[in-house]
This record gives sequence, structure tokens and C-alpha cells, in this order.
Amino acid sequence: MKLVKLIANLGYGSRRQVTQLFREGRITNLAGEVLYADDQVAHADIRLDGETLDPPQGLTLMLHKPVGYTCSTKDPGGVVYDLLPPRFRERSPVVATVGRLDRDTTGLLLMTDDGALLHRIVHPKSQLAKVYEATLARDLRGNEAEKFASGKMMLESEKTPLAPATLEVIDKRHARLTLTEGRYHQARRMFAAVGNHVEALHRSRLGGLTLGDLPVGQWRLLDAADLDTLFGK
Ligand code: URA
Repeated sequence: MKLVKLIANLGYGSRRQVTQLFREGRITNLAGEVLYADDQVAHADIRLDGETLDPPQGLTLMLHKPVGYTCSTKDPGGVVYDLLPPRFRERSPVVATVGRLDRDTTGLLLMTDDGALLHRIVHPKSQLAKVYEATLARDLRGNEAEKFASGKMMLESEKTPLAPATLEVIDKRHARLTLTEGRYHQARRMFAAVGNHVEALHRSRLGGLTLGDLPVGQWRLLDAADLDTLFGK
């Protein structure tokens, strides 16, 4: 790929703006020699103002999502892209959220520009476990785990029953819910269907991946070993 396209695709500006960077001699190789818009040079060997470029296409990251951010590109109240470098919003292909967490759900959110990987994760066949820690407004009654595990539970306005889900009761107002599907507001609707209300929801695990010590609001790139962990390899 020609350098002008490669660099524009990483969100550094329109092709016209990136062409200007070349004209100004700000794009060089490792040795500091000026590169040209039509050159074809490996990503790792390109420098802009002497700095390495953002990660190449194939970027996957985990974000520790705080309360109050939506998984969309536009929302007056704040979006998850606000927590990433501004260029990440301008990349082509886009860095998309892998599924969604509600505005008020916290925890592990993956984002990627790799469409095939995204589909592999969200596809119902993947059966990747999504683990949620729920804080409830009312005491658990004691029969919720059985209902959730039944494979017969129906949510309002849905046509097919939910796949069996696992509920681990921590105490009367706290439970860990493991889902293998991702229906709209699923965890909140499941607790509503058994007469409860979720006050706080936190995703602690996706497949084999956890947040580790990643602070709230921070993100980190995932590597091949992380993806193996995700898929339980
Ligand atoms: N279930 C929900 O209700 N909300 C989420 O954000 C994720 C799962």
C-alpha cells in the first residue's frame, strides 16, 4: 500500500493533509531519510516527526469501561472513543466495539478493526462465556439460578428461549451471571424477569480474558497470546 494511504488510514488526516506531511519532510524512514507519498515501506520502518506510528491494521484492544460512556460513535453524554487516542476514531477500517455494554455497565470491552475476529467473537457458535457481576436492588429469592439454567426462560418480546445461563449467588444482593449469548440488555432483563432490578453491572470476563490490573477508563492493546487466552487455547 502506498504510504499516503497507509498513514491516512491510521487516522492521521485526509489524504490531502497527509500529503502535506510528506511535503514538509516530516515522514521519514528509520535512518531519518525523507519518504514520499508513493513509497511503499513497512509500517515498522516509518517515522512521523521521528516517532513510531500508531499500531497497524489488525488492532485489538481491551478497555476498562467506566459508567456513563456509550458504545457508539456519537452521544452527547460521552462515548467509549473519548477514552482512546482521538486518531483511533478516524481509522479505516474502523475500530468497532465487539458487541456492546450499556452506558451504565462497567468492565471489559473489546474493540477491534479486524472484522473477521469481531464476527468470530460475537457469533453465537463461539459460545464464549461473558461473566457479569450484578449488584441487585432486592434480595435474591433463591430460585433464580434454576430459572436461568433451565434453557426455557423467555424474555418479553422475544421469540426464542434463552440458552442456559449460570448464576452464582455471592450474597443476597450480589450474584455472578455467566452468559453465552448477548441479547439486548440481557442481564438486566433476566433479573427484571425474576422480579429484581440491577443496580450495578460489571463485566469481569470474556472467554478466558479478564481485566487484570487495568484501571477504570484505561485501555491496552491485545497481542496474539491474549487472543489465545480469549479463545481458551
Ligand atoms: N447485559 C446487560 O443488561 N447489559 C450489558 O451491558 C451487558 C449485558
